[in-house]
Amino acid sequence: MNAFAQFFTAQQALRPRGLEVAAATENVIDINNLQFAWRNNAAPVLDIDNLRVERGQRLFIEGPSGSGKSTLLSLLAGVIAPQKGTVSVRGRRVDALSGAQRDRFRADHIGFIFQMFNLIPYLSLAENVALPCRFSQRRRQKAQSQSGGLEKEALRLLTLLGLADPGLLKRPVTDLSVGQQQRVAAARALIGSPEVLIADEPTSSLDAAHREAFIRLLFEECAKAQSTLIFVSHDTSLAPLFDQVIRLPEINRAGRRLERSGNPVTAGMPVSDIGRKEVTK
Ligand SMILES: Nc1ncnc2c1ncn2[C@@H]1O[C@H](COP(=O)(O)OP(=O)(O)O)[C@@H](O)[C@H]1O
Ligand SMILES: [Mg+2]
Repeated sequence: MNAFAQFFTAQQALRPRGLEVAAATENVIDINNLQFAWRNNAAPVLDIDNLRVERGQRLFIEGPSGSGKSTLLSLLAGVIAPQKGTVSVRGRRVDALSGAQRDRFRADHIGFIFQMFNLIPYLSLAENVALPCRFSQRRRQKAQSQSGGLEKEALRLLTLLGLADPGLLKRPVTDLSVGQQQRVAAARALIGSPEVLIADEPTSSLDAAHREAFIRLLFEECAKAQSTLIFVSHDTSLAPLFDQVIRLPEINRAGRRLERSGNPVTAGMPVSDIGRKEVTK
């Protein structure tokens, strides 16, 4: 067993048993009869009977590009609302909240690592990390009690992610490499220990060493705060590290319909012709 695998086994063993028993009765995520289409009257992108994730669990979601992974994460975070069905997070029906209420709920309870990072170019690294605490008093208080100050907590998280170099901290975030920006986005999602951490392909731009440090930090911080982790990735080699693994097309009836009907432009064409046809189209 390599050091990385040993670390994860140790993490599992260290989990307090009492909390596991409590966790078994509490679904932090509870989706029922969900349907979502990007446009009304269009075919749904997502059609999911149910999906439940218990408190403190680490869920890995995989699926091909375009299968609706990011859409599902946006529904969980209340960025968008479904046309049908329910989405509950920590027992709260986020689908029933107004847009403004969903924004507040997200600020208080959800850390989101966006696929495109969404860092603010005119803020420093530490200010970017502390940003969620401007929108949520709850997270600000948790961050301050963790390290004795907001900036200290931002620097603690940046240090754990290997971004503590003073020269680096002064640079505009836009000057950082893609991998470094991704780690700033992770620190921002972790600050103030949100109960749910959502990560959309967060390791796609990281090399092996940084990927390992990144996942260690994610797991450690989630375990410490008993946060639930929803992690989307193409990298199926990471799947064994998680408590629950879902292949989205297997739970998404809309995805199965799409897989059966295929791309209407290329359906029925010999595979060798598909690229040519699209180029000459
Ligand atoms: N903002 C949007 N507006 C309209 N259609 C979208 C939007 N985002 C995604 N889609 C469509 O929804 C489908 C699922 O996309 P997405 O959830 O991004 O998949 P994945 O994350 O698995 O690659 C795709 O057909 C995509 O084109
Ligand atoms: Mg996506």
